[in-house]
Amino acid sequence: MSHSTPDTTPCVTTIAGTGSYVPERILSNADLAKIVDTSDEWIVSRTGIRERRIAAAGETTSDMCTKAARLAIESAGITAAEIDLIIVGTVTPDSLFPSTACYVQQNLGASNAVAFDVSAACAGFLFAMQIARHFINGGNRSTALIIGADKLSVLIDWTDRNTCVLFGDGAGAAILRRRTPDDEATASGLLSSVLASDGNLTGILHAPGIGSAQTLPPNPAVIPEPIIHMMGKEVFKAAVKNTCEACETAISRAGLPAADLDLIIPHQANVRIVDAIRERLGLPPEKAFLNLQKYGNTSGAAIAIALDEASRSGRLKKGDNVLLVAFGAGFAWAASVIRW
Ligand code: UT7
Repeated sequence: MSHSTPDTTPCVTTIAGTGSYVPERILSNADLAKIVDTSDEWIVSRTGIRERRIAAAGETTSDMCTKAARLAIESAGITAAEIDLIIVGTVTPDSLFPSTACYVQQNLGASNAVAFDVSAACAGFLFAMQIARHFINGGNRSTALIIGADKLSVLIDWTDRNTCVLFGDGAGAAILRRRTPDDEATASGLLSSVLASDGNLTGILHAPGIGSAQTLPPNPAVIPEPIIHMMGKEVFKAAVKNTCEACETAISRAGLPAADLDLIIPHQANVRIVDAIRERLGLPPEKAFLNLQKYGNTSGAAIAIALDEASRSGRLKKGDNVLLVAFGAGFAWAASVIRW
């Protein structure tokens, strides 16, 4: 893939509204230090995370998606009936089937949409964004609800300090639509994208336990616990190497020098990974949007929540050039440049 190849996909699609939701319950680093051998000092210095949100027992991924989606619909000024495509990026669906997107469709009464999930772990929201972009660019659909959402708290081994301090629950949503004359006047839209995966790295981050590889134990009532297995250092290295390259390609395809970026909204996994990407692009710390200190790594939701917070807080302004970049299990990664 040449770094100088422009993105030939026409800029037809834009973001019309965003929304997000995080559960009420806060789990602080001090709370975690009571259940595993860790400390606030270790977690903050190695990751930047101070606290995370944990969904209530009966609160499902589709419940969180629905709350985020309602806010996105409201901010876009549309009705649920106008949505003709719903894509949920999640690795913690309510159940193996039907898709979480179909539950969201039911909750919203979005009866004119086709709804399905995409599995790309922490890159799920950006994968959903690019799939929706191609549907809209192709003329097949005009108004998409895309959601990134995860309830990783159900997959966590709460005795494993290597992983339990990192993750949290939440959902973020956006409405994508065909550009209006107003959008064309401000040149807002999705400018470029890179989607990538490397199946040779499936083993560095995975959650076995439920799926076709699972042999049911002699007593089928006893289903083994699905648990996150992660080789932290390997994930760290794969994240920095692959996402830095993807960012450079996405920026180049958008026809922008990195210095013209107003904001990076990176996957909120580890502030040290964010710093590595930002430094490689030669950008100062204030150009990276961070909320991982409040929410930890919310997997597919992280970029979607951050995008909504950046928008609602006024950090994002009309005409800003924004780089979105995500990575996670697969290994799967993505980068996109948008003009707000
Ligand atoms: O969306 C993708 C999701 N995953 C990621 O992005 C993870 C990427 N990786 C990372 O962010 C980092 O590798 C971690 C934060 C997971 C770990 O940081 P590290 O600097 O790579 O630490 P390490 O794994 O090398 O561990 C250093 C030490 C070890 O002790 P010894 O062997 O040196 O005695 C660990 O056992 O820190 C220990 N350790 C902890 N200590 C206190 C590991 N976790 C903890 C903990 N509290 N929570």
